[in-house]
Amino acid sequence: MVTFPTVRPRRLRNNKIIRDLIAQTSINVSQLVLPIFVKENINEPEKIESMPEIFRYPPNDYLTKFVQQAYELGIRSFILFGIPSYKDDFASSAYAKDGIIQKSLGLLRQTFGDKILLIADECTDEYISHGHCGVVINKNGKAIIDNDESLEVHARIALSQAEAGADIIAPSSMMDGVVGAIRKKLDENGYRDISIMSYSVKYASTFYSPFRDAAYSKPAFGDRRGYQMDPRNSFEALKEAELDIEEGADILMVKPAHTYLDVIRIVKDNFPYYPLAAYHVSGEYSMIKAAAINGWIDERTAVLEITTAIKRAGADIIITYFAPKIAEWLKEGVPF
Ligand code: PBG
Repeated sequence: MVTFPTVRPRRLRNNKIIRDLIAQTSINVSQLVLPIFVKENINEPEKIESMPEIFRYPPNDYLTKFVQQAYELGIRSFILFGIPSYKDDFASSAYAKDGIIQKSLGLLRQTFGDKILLIADECTDEYISHGHCGVVINKNGKAIIDNDESLEVHARIALSQAEAGADIIAPSSMMDGVVGAIRKKLDENGYRDISIMSYSVKYASTFYSPFRDAAYSKPAFGDRRGYQMDPRNSFEALKEAELDIEEGADILMVKPAHTYLDVIRIVKDNFPYYPLAAYHVSGEYSMIKAAAINGWIDERTAVLEITTAIKRAGADIIITYFAPKIAEWLKEGVPF
């Protein structure tokens, strides 16, 4: 004779209403951040081949209309990536007063006032001739990305982004001490209220490839393994997060997101009093898109499941190219 169970977890899965009643995790549109690529010297949005349905925008009506549409869906936070018309060895187009990021921040601030939150990705890679996240110097005939030489440049870029109207600076270079250098520079110049959302735990990931295609920021030599984290490590994430906290970071980030759910969890568990962002990156976006376009997965269900998983793992804020779609889909509820 078989014995029948007394405790039956299935009772609580009987129908959608009871599942919704006990659901632990939900996605809030207010916690989604939409990445936007802005590009100099174009008049119309430009398709990005490796990222279906994502465009590079010129800093004109096309950009404000795109933001307006997202706004109407409930999205309030945006992170901007600039694609300049020139690159040099000092990334000077990243801190030029009329640089692409400065122009775009200014336009959006002017159009939307305080109705939206503007985050500026702070890095050199899109603006510097060799595409690295810092300054390259020649040491004994070898090109190296010099940490300390890079700090002043990063601080200078951050200051110019704050001057142009950014609410939050998001340093993504993984240079040691960059958060402290930026905090000091902002404070010295009266920008004490500008927050820092640090890409504290950024892995050397192949899932940034479509982004590098979108932003023309593939390094001309070498790779980023000398400064971004090794995918084999997780406890090192705590060291990175702790250092950023000591240096004055307000918000921490783990990137990529879907591939690093365990890391999101340990960072959240160890620093629960710091808001944690997770970046669902370009390659993670394009993989889903490719499968969906082929009809192999249902895009809506897949994206909502993955985004929920990122939230469940411990992320408070989710940076995702799917933000407008998620906002739209959530109006009909979740498909679980
Ligand atoms: C650096 C930066 C990158 C991304 C965000 N900030 C590129 C890199 O480190 O190579 C990647 C984001 C994505 O893949 O969606 N400015």
